[in-house]
Amino acid sequence: MLDRLIYRFQQFYFGVFSRYTATDAVFAQNYLSRKELALFNQLPYFEKKHAVVVAQKMLSAAHQYPELNKRLLARLGLLHDIGKIVEKNSLLTKAFMVMIRFLLPPLFNYLADLGKNHPFFRRFYSHKHHGAIGAHLLEKLGESSVVISIISKHDPQAEPLGADDPLELKILQKADSTY
Ligand SMILES: [Fe+2]
Ligand SMILES: [Fe+2]
Repeated sequence: MLDRLIYRFQQFYFGVFSRYTATDAVFAQNYLSRKELALFNQLPYFEKKHAVVVAQKMLSAAHQYPELNKRLLARLGLLHDIGKIVEKNSLLTKAFMVMIRFLLPPLFNYLADLGKNHPFFRRFYSHKHHGAIGAHLLEKLGESSVVISIISKHDPQAEPLGADDPLELKILQKADSTY
């Protein structure tokens, strides 16, 4: 519990002080198509930075798994939170929502359910379901079923990891949980 709380504060700290640099932008361009990049660039800078760091961590982890497709791993890292484009968060609204989800899960789930039909709480709904929303956005771009399936299931708070889930999903969740 305490380690997760420390992690959340670290995440906020990195969000405040990190910058999405020109080098980060080139990294994203190298792996995403023009249409994917257009979606990606709708994310706020702190989510783009998060996605680049997660993708780079996945590439580092890939050294242990030479059989895996490195390009696929990088693309999963970059696209995993693409569903957050509909949340339109600032760093403060994101921190507020993440803390409610972490400290008061029943309240978060109640507000998320309410947000399905109530515009005032829509952001809670979108946050809870950002994996499925992102998968749907990518489906419309004609993304592969592998990418769609992994992105829809990437949030362990929405859906626990199953024994049959692919290694790429485990690597994504590990990288995602440490930044
Ligand atoms: Fe996520
Ligand atoms: Fe993430």
